[in-house]
Amino acid sequence: MHARARARFCTVLAGLALPACAARAAPVDGPAMLALARSSGCLACHALHHTKVAPSYAAIAARMQGRPDAVRTLQQAILNGHSGTWGIIPMPSYGGAQGVLTEAQARDLARWVLSQAPGPQDPGHAP
Ligand code: HEC
Repeated sequence: MHARARARFCTVLAGLALPACAARAAPVDGPAMLALARSSGCLACHALHHTKVAPSYAAIAARMQGRPDAVRTLQQAILNGHSGTWGIIPMPSYGGAQGVLTEAQARDLARWVLSQAPGPQDPGHAP
């Protein structure tokens, strides 16, 4: 099956938690997500692989590994803000009244953050 068709197929089926699709739904568009993170100001506080004022995306991904609710948890953190897990500095909210990011953008960013975890499926990519 063509990758794009499979991605759409899995996006639909992900809602049914089909195991073959759950781990790897549509492919993450790394360059587009990096650009969105940069233009949204995320990289002022976060880096991919080292701690700045905020935890690295690799560390966040590692902490979430194996959690079936990982995408939704991180999507909610991006939309609503988050505090208390990593330290005393809060993560600002990007959804709601501010409306900086749509729910779909926050979900895509969450999936991109999760793709930063080093692992056998995903050997050392990303800058
Ligand atoms: C002003 C600094 C700042 C900016 C800008 C920022 N973050 Fe954060 N972010 C943080 C901090 C600090 C934490 C850790 C909060 C905590 O301890 O729970 C965090 C946590 C997170 C988490 C993990 C939440 C968890 O459950 O572990 C994600 C995902 C995240 N940020 C994504 C983003 C994205 C995507 C953007 C841009 C749209 C962004 N952040 C912009 C400071 C920032």
